[in-house]
Amino acid sequence: MFKIAVFPGDGIGPEVVNEGVKLLKALDRELNLGLTFEEALIGGIAVDKYGVPLPKETLDIALSSDAVLLGAVGGPKWDNIEVSKRPEQALLALRKNLGVFANIRPVKSIKSLLSASPIKPEIVDGVDLIILRELTGGIYFGEPKYRDKEKAIDTLVYHRYEIERIADVAFKLSLSRRRKITSVDKANILESSRLWREVINEKAKEYPQVTVEHLYVDNCAMQLIRRPKDFDVVLTENMFGDILSDEAGAILGSLGMLPSASIGEKYALYEPIHGSAPDIAGKGIANPLATILTVALLLRYSLKREDLASTVESAVEEILKEGYHTPDLNIDGELVNTVRMGDLVVERVLKKLEGDKR
Ligand code: IPM
Ligand code: MG
Repeated sequence: MFKIAVFPGDGIGPEVVNEGVKLLKALDRELNLGLTFEEALIGGIAVDKYGVPLPKETLDIALSSDAVLLGAVGGPKWDNIEVSKRPEQALLALRKNLGVFANIRPVKSIKSLLSASPIKPEIVDGVDLIILRELTGGIYFGEPKYRDKEKAIDTLVYHRYEIERIADVAFKLSLSRRRKITSVDKANILESSRLWREVINEKAKEYPQVTVEHLYVDNCAMQLIRRPKDFDVVLTENMFGDILSDEAGAILGSLGMLPSASIGEKYALYEPIHGSAPDIAGKGIANPLATILTVALLLRYSLKREDLASTVESAVEEILKEGYHTPDLNIDGELVNTVRMGDLVVERVLKKLEGDKR
């Protein structure tokens, strides 16, 4: 048995998660993967019902799962409530409680979507990188955090073990790719970055086959736009990774296409990078492909089914190539809604599996 905790969340979350679950169920029917699903509330909808964004029941379901599939949290309705009840807090608490310290954000260009990018197609075509973001340390979680009328404090702490374990993930990931790591820090200014760089350099000695370069974060932000194809694994701390992953995503021109996986020692959390998009929620027009590609990551990293992961990814590419698209993707071809897009992917994936059998 493999238990998937399903947390649709707010806004378009439920609509896109539906399509992800539909695909998983179809695969399960076809291949007997032994999947079970359990759903719970998270984010604003949980605040409305239970008064907290991460109810105990939800956390318990996550802690008894093999993987969590999450939609999105937040929306204008909860923008002005006290900090501890903000929907984003649920996400931070969930990441921390699950110990999912390695956040994998792949950014891969898709030929039929090149025109959606604000960057010249010859620069974007062929981009294939991963932002590997440390997710449970750094300034997001450091103590003390303090605020009064005149002063506010956030604290950026990194321990050696936190850097070592994310470095391990980076080197292992890079072995199955182009064997190049760009470690991003601000070592000219920050003590935490100097420790970061030192630990990465020590780790690098264990992996002589991998090339390691160090970039300051400001320079990296620039190089990502100028020469995104040169990057393979971009390894960085929590807040730099938050910022650079939005930037890297923007290179592709469509937030609706970006998946993510957050992996720890015991648990894994899968979520699309986009937010809850309250402006289009409930209209059935959200792009479910980021969630569907997130399901591909679940197949790859949790179920260890690289074959199925790449089948899903190539099904998505084919469908886009044929011109099927949701309104966020400005390409020629047939405009489809969320459910239809999900159906198209399921049909195509099943057809491909059928073909493999023959
Ligand atoms: C992300 C988001 C979150 C983060 C927010 C919603 C807490 O921006 O996953 O990148 O800052 O980590
Ligand atoms: Mg972010």
